[in-house]
Amino acid sequence: MCGIVGYVGDNKSLEVLLGGLKRLEYRGYDSAGVAVIGADGTMDTRKRAGKLQVLVDDLDMRPMANGATGIGHTRWATHGGPTDRNAHPHLGDDGKLALIHNGIIENFSELKNELVESGATFTSETDTEVAAILVGREYAATGDLTEALRRVVQRLEGAFTLLVMHVDQPGVVVGARRNSPLVIGLGDGENFLGSDVAAFVEFTRRAVAIGQDQIVTIRPDSVVVTDFDGNSVETDEFEIAWDASASEKGGWSSFMAKEISEEPEAVAKTILGRVHDGLVDLKELEPLGPDALTDIDRIVVIACGTAAYAGMLGKYAIEQWSRIPVDVELSHEFRYRNPILTPRTLVISISQSGETMDTLMAVKFAKESGAKVLSVCNTQGATIPRESDAVVYTHAGPEVAVASTKAFVAQVTALYLIGLELGKVRGTLSDDEIRHNVAELQAVPDKISEILTVSQAEIGQLAHWMTDTQSVLFLGRNVGYPVALEGALKLKELAYIHAEGFAAGELKHGPIALIEPGQVVFVIVPSPRDPDSLHPKVVSNIQEIRARGARVIAIAEKGDASVLPFADEVIPIPLAGSLFEPFLAVVPLHIFGMELSAAKGLDVDQPRNLAKSVTVE
Ligand code: AGP
Repeated sequence: MCGIVGYVGDNKSLEVLLGGLKRLEYRGYDSAGVAVIGADGTMDTRKRAGKLQVLVDDLDMRPMANGATGIGHTRWATHGGPTDRNAHPHLGDDGKLALIHNGIIENFSELKNELVESGATFTSETDTEVAAILVGREYAATGDLTEALRRVVQRLEGAFTLLVMHVDQPGVVVGARRNSPLVIGLGDGENFLGSDVAAFVEFTRRAVAIGQDQIVTIRPDSVVVTDFDGNSVETDEFEIAWDASASEKGGWSSFMAKEISEEPEAVAKTILGRVHDGLVDLKELEPLGPDALTDIDRIVVIACGTAAYAGMLGKYAIEQWSRIPVDVELSHEFRYRNPILTPRTLVISISQSGETMDTLMAVKFAKESGAKVLSVCNTQGATIPRESDAVVYTHAGPEVAVASTKAFVAQVTALYLIGLELGKVRGTLSDDEIRHNVAELQAVPDKISEILTVSQAEIGQLAHWMTDTQSVLFLGRNVGYPVALEGALKLKELAYIHAEGFAAGELKHGPIALIEPGQVVFVIVPSPRDPDSLHPKVVSNIQEIRARGARVIAIAEKGDASVLPFADEVIPIPLAGSLFEPFLAVVPLHIFGMELSAAKGLDVDQPRNLAKSVTVE
């Protein structure tokens, strides 16, 4: 979704804005623009459809005066196509105010009609230009930029982060947010605003998250935060846990390749500090309240996409260890079906970005319905954790590629830790059982590393053979089923081909009709060592599809010879307990999706039509 950068300080706005927008590219966008108040006191704006490089090239050809006050924006089109005219910043009537916006102003039509009736003319199809003209007029009436924005946001409905600046107010940028992200970067004689910390991490690692319905005014030597009524509010400063290099590729062919390589570390860092003497110790759950963990009688997991598949794996573990029933729901379905929630329901939201609007709105709905909300999130200071009663941060580091990989394994890790903590507090797990499962979890990073070392090249070769494939199916049972869904999603979003994940037991209830000679099917095979595993049934499933000509690629435990006669390819994974096999089985599927995308010459990090964080409903 949109990227936002604001700056006040030295005569280097263009470097700050363009550098920040570059690091926000991963959010997905289709146009970019900047506005700067130059040293000569004039304001200049430049904006172009297309990638950031188009804007940079334009600025190289037609240089723009630098200055000490600026705002910059990358837009993911919602109202109005990706054109130069619809790109941000947008200007007020008199051209003296510049505004950028992330989100959707839901009542913009009525506001636009009111402005048209008052003689306003519009140059774009956007909802944003409505806000620019409204703030410009309020500034003309008040001479106070903060007051002008404050008056306007009172009239807006929907989700928005707005930044404004005015040529008569050099050294001042004002921002406001509702249901959309905005963080402050604190510098020395300079200050920053951004849709996330990647916007300014190169310049400062001191940050302050801005809360719901708050306005911030930054000057080089001051930062003032108030609510929409003008009352000052307390703010919490935090240190950004990663540096600028973390958001660069570091020599990898893509961010996705870098992030897959970081999957072991993402698991290990998410465990770090949460295990003592072999027992789980998850203090982050304490804000839920002293008796919450024993009072809970139901858990509802809400998430979207890959995060939802992590939630499905969490369901198996949490139910197994705590005996609390767990439902997993897609955020965008959950809040529209009038769900039954009580104060004894714990809602667990999962979001890498912490800004997914579908999940944010579902969290707010759950809170309003009286449920407690625990968030699993990878982005410090993001909106969803701020709306939750408690948060367990995953420590995967910044995930830049649109296709989520290391965040997924970190989310599953966090959910397993939550399940173990619940089992400990509720007495449904003995200390020995906890220690056994903690040890299994702590062994996961090395096992993932082994797969990355042994299988990466072979999987890449497999992908190169399949560049013409038009359809791939994924089969899994029990905890293998969410892995099948995740594998299919990766192929859809990275290689743009039809892919579908099935519960293997479902095959004979319809999907087996899809099997024809040459149909590629990945099968996640359970461990044959687990007496309760569904290994024999999955081997039967493989035989059924092989008999109909399928090309079977089995992901199976090292040494499992039973699949060899029936599979065209076997990708071995290290031995692990059944609940921990998904951490390992998913890695070849992440690699395969990335390799097939690259083999097809597609954009691995920024696939078409997709955004890293979907901040609109
Ligand atoms: C995963 O590869 C996709 N990029 C997408 O499904 C993503 O997981 C989903 O949009 C949820 O994002 P979030 O974790 O930031 O909420």
